[in-house]
Amino acid sequence: MAETETSQQQNGLQENRIFPPPADFAAQAAISGMDAYNKLCAEAEKDYEGFWGRMARETLDWHKPFTKVLDESNAPFYTWFEDGELNASYNCLDRNLTNGNADKVAIIFEADDGKATTVTYRQLHERVCKFANALKSRGIKKGDRVVIYMPMSVEGVTAMQACARIGATHSVVFGGFSAKSLQERIIDAGAVAVITADEQMRGGKALPLKAIVDEACAMEGCDTVRDVIVYKRTGGNINFQQGRDIWMHELVDGQSAECEPEWVGAEHPLFILYTSGSTGTPKGVQHATGGYLLWAAQTMKWTFDIKPNDVFWCTADIGWVTGHTYITYGPLAVGATQIVFEGIPTFPNAGRFWETIAKHKATIFYTAPTAIRSLIKASNADENVHPKKFDLSSLRLLGSVGEPINPEAWMWYYRNVGNEKCPIVDTFWQTETGGHMITPLPGATPEVPGSCTLPLPGIMAAIVDEAGHDVPNGQGGILVVKRPWPSMLRTIWGNPQRFKAGYFPEELGGKYYLAGDGAIRNKDTGYFTITGRIDDVLNVSGHRMGTMEIESALVAHELVAEAAVVGKPDDTTGEAICAFVVLKRARPSGEEAKQIAQQLRNWVAHEIGPIAKPKEIRFGDNLPKTRSGKIMRRLLRVLAKGETITQDVSTLENPAILEQLKEST
Ligand code: WTA
Repeated sequence: MAETETSQQQNGLQENRIFPPPADFAAQAAISGMDAYNKLCAEAEKDYEGFWGRMARETLDWHKPFTKVLDESNAPFYTWFEDGELNASYNCLDRNLTNGNADKVAIIFEADDGKATTVTYRQLHERVCKFANALKSRGIKKGDRVVIYMPMSVEGVTAMQACARIGATHSVVFGGFSAKSLQERIIDAGAVAVITADEQMRGGKALPLKAIVDEACAMEGCDTVRDVIVYKRTGGNINFQQGRDIWMHELVDGQSAECEPEWVGAEHPLFILYTSGSTGTPKGVQHATGGYLLWAAQTMKWTFDIKPNDVFWCTADIGWVTGHTYITYGPLAVGATQIVFEGIPTFPNAGRFWETIAKHKATIFYTAPTAIRSLIKASNADENVHPKKFDLSSLRLLGSVGEPINPEAWMWYYRNVGNEKCPIVDTFWQTETGGHMITPLPGATPEVPGSCTLPLPGIMAAIVDEAGHDVPNGQGGILVVKRPWPSMLRTIWGNPQRFKAGYFPEELGGKYYLAGDGAIRNKDTGYFTITGRIDDVLNVSGHRMGTMEIESALVAHELVAEAAVVGKPDDTTGEAICAFVVLKRARPSGEEAKQIAQQLRNWVAHEIGPIAKPKEIRFGDNLPKTRSGKIMRRLLRVLAKGETITQDVSTLENPAILEQLKEST
């Protein structure tokens, strides 16, 4: 088998290596063999509501059973299990107290410095109840929005679960976002409280969190925030505002360890999570309690084949959807033991992931292709951090999420981490979909590197053209989902028009969910390969970034007149941000250009967060525009790649500018 790949193989489209599930894995799997998969798909096809109703009854505990599964009368504002009542925290915690899991470890917390602590289901239940009572004592109640800006910690999971317990809707903001990004989210959500920590530890360094909350709250429009609750992580120096700020441990102290869950309707908003779109400010993706939790639990069973003895490790941050579904909710809803990791993959060295797997005997490992690619590089440079140097024999299943995985990275992961015995689930999904959509089933689907293979049972994914007509296999098109599913977003918080126009566009008939990705199905197998976003959203290291957001940040700088941002392929991060900038003054060159570029990078980090820093900045006297003044981004994409422009440029107002923009600073 060739070690090197041809360029066509790089995105998996020409890939013909195939990896059937190992027989011993298939024999014990929740969905064993393709017949079992096909049977479930057929059940969903035949009686869609019956299928989902059965799943919801079998997977969740309902305080009040639902009588209707799906209501399509106000499409695309679908509702699921609407008259049923439940509580997400009850399903994640209380039911594990009576089914034999009470003293089972729920969370192994692996701190940045390598210290590990464990929390059982009984202990986690107690901590969540106490914190829920503490929130109530501050007047926080059902329907209130609470922003959570916390490090990876048991306390972060506890905060989310405590909100769910009292029916408050949480909105977690990733700890790498700036004060301004935090302020925008606090305002949009109308948050009454912010839960944060004094500082966070990353790679041996203490970084501020509370100071950023202070900065955000001091900005205009954040006066809805009555309380700032602070978890003491490092004991570092912070300012305290009397009357507003309170330590988490003081607030929790003396609270009762019992807290009756607030029973909410299945459609009650469990959380809002902001994500980037192609236009405007980040949108608050709103998820409902019942449908979301159902799919979080169900996909733990199907995609991850979770078993009582597994040690599950999802390396995502709770600030992203992957951390919501596959740390805070999914693993707990199925009573699993999981690792919650505070650190970074390269501290104290790039062997940290492998060392941690060996230390805690992780059986299922779920991470992003960017992490894999950077660890391939690191282990090529230093054999001591190569996975083969560690005992990874506990692993039985690997997963990938957030961006396309190139076959080369897939093969390395398969050989060196999985020792050629672990299936790899390449899970395609989105913040909006709540959980996995298209993914192999580890005990059923023969895998092909670079392909997310087939939709899960009940997920009616398809590929259509721009008029919404099906395209044949082998022909690329737009990825859609033809029928609503329980864990889909319900709306954009405060902006139902944007939800309807953005996700159910009239051009596709108004009924299909538009994912925003292009895809193609293999002619023979029907397997899906995602070919990338079809809108102006970039995917950098598995993080979604809107080009517009970065452009707005750049033009807010006093030196900048105009900016256009595009993505360019990157060996490690998948895509990298490339910005074309016109200054209000003469075009800089040499050292000066380098300095200004650095200044602008830092500015973007300050405005949005370090993840939005452009990797490359190029200066021009102008940008390539049509005679009507429209920036020709497709030309900029070609320039960013370093390729020669072969397209017709006759409609350009100023073709000479292209020459200038070829040069990077
Ligand atoms: C991309 C992350 C290819 C895709 C869970 C999608 C993927 C966006 C995959 C959602 C995958 C996610 N293969 N592309 N397995 N998984 N994507 O909202 O472009 O942060 O639309 O959710 O990531 O990113 P989000």
